[in-house]
Amino acid sequence: MNVIAFNGSPRKEKWNTVTLLDHALAGAVSAGADTRLVHLYDLNFSGCISCFSCKKISRKEDGVCAVQDDLTPVLDLVRNADALIVGTPVYYGAESAATRALIERLCFPYNRYAKDRKSLFPRRINTALIYTMNVSNDILLEWGYDRHFSITRGALEKCFGPCELLLCTDTLQYGDYDKYESEMFDRDAKFRRHAEVFPQDCRRAFELGARVAASR
Ligand SMILES: Cc1cc2nc3c(=O)[nH]c(=O)nc-3n(C[C@H](O)[C@H](O)[C@H](O)COP(=O)(O)O)c2cc1C
Repeated sequence: MNVIAFNGSPRKEKWNTVTLLDHALAGAVSAGADTRLVHLYDLNFSGCISCFSCKKISRKEDGVCAVQDDLTPVLDLVRNADALIVGTPVYYGAESAATRALIERLCFPYNRYAKDRKSLFPRRINTALIYTMNVSNDILLEWGYDRHFSITRGALEKCFGPCELLLCTDTLQYGDYDKYESEMFDRDAKFRRHAEVFPQDCRRAFELGARVAASR
């Protein structure tokens, strides 16, 4: 069982998204999986360039993105993956730019423009999306973030298989709120929540990882 996780935060150490991904992968390991964490911001790659090579009638192989960049070997690994976990901070109500680019390159080659719209990915595998964000659960619903999350979740489900969603809200954004503009935040409440609720989010991530890695 090979589980690949993608960190869509530029912050690679100790921050929200990567910490949840570390816990999810620890959960996957506890279920017997081999795991790999890909930091998207270490890679130089673009989103889909709409070349439609993956839709050519004369294409030699299905499900292959023709763009050659740092994401190419990672997409090759995905072909043999048994589960995928994508973690991202919310930027302007959606995934980070690198995560968005990943989703385009990951999914589009497997999307058929055929009547049955069946995925070209050869198996059904478990997937998961982990979002971390500044806003509270109430505000994410009020601002309609959940509609966007459902669209991305639907894209992964259509291409690969069932997709679990983990939402981590009201995250701690700075280690030292005195050093950065932060008037709009209640910093004490932020630290309290980080101490009390974030460990529960980490536990939920661990359990998600174990479920995603469980053989189907
Ligand atoms: C460019 C940028 C845009 C952001 N936009 C939002 C947003 O629209 N909604 C939100 O709730 N948080 C937003 N945030 C906050 C992050 O989503 C949040 O702090 C997240 O947990 C950071 O993840 P990390 O600690 O893994 O980097 C934004 C942060 C940045 C840097």
